[in-house]
Amino acid sequence: MDGYELCLVENADDWAAYHRIRRTVLFEARGRFDYVTDGPEELKAENLSLLLKYREQPIGTVRLDQKPNGKAIVRLVAIVSHLQKQGHGTALMQRVEILAASLGFNQLLVHAALDAVDFYQKLGFSRFDFDTADIQSVQLRKLI
Ligand SMILES: CC(C)(COP(=O)(O)OP(=O)(O)OC[C@H]1O[C@@H](n2cnc3c(N)ncnc32)[C@H](O)[C@@H]1OP(=O)(O)O)[C@@H](O)C(=O)NCCC(=O)NCCS
Repeated sequence: MDGYELCLVENADDWAAYHRIRRTVLFEARGRFDYVTDGPEELKAENLSLLLKYREQPIGTVRLDQKPNGKAIVRLVAIVSHLQKQGHGTALMQRVEILAASLGFNQLLVHAALDAVDFYQKLGFSRFDFDTADIQSVQLRKLI
């Protein structure tokens, strides 16, 4: 037991933590104040909202969007600000990868923020353009 648990967001406390982490880390820390909790992508059954807990405390988020042809997209990866660069993001991604593989996916895709590209590359992702509509982020892929 290493203290980590990656769980589906199911109860009200977990939803509150999930949205709080995403709003503060991915929006407010970047000067954005337009976070919405109930976007249509959050409600799709094929998009799995996941919370990383460490010693039972919520510290990170990720959404795993299940797509056809063995592909799954990792979205909105965030670790609470004061715990970044301590290995928790790596632990989160390892668990997402195991989950995706167990669900039958063979590749993970990500639209990475420019300053997070190194993080994904250290985890074995490499550049791979899969979404022609996206020009703002760096697209990466990992075969799993
Ligand atoms: C990106 C993020 C999820 C990484 O989680 P983390 O817990 O900080 O990462 P780790 O401590 O596991 O770092 C693993 C490695 O990646 C590096 N790394 C982490 N974040 C990085 C970043 N933003 N840029 C470059 N390298 C980074 C670490 O230095 C570490 O390298 P090392 O093994 O050589 O020491 C986290 O920093 C975060 O939430 N950042 C803000 C939101 C964000 O950018 N999300 C990604 C959107 S696509």
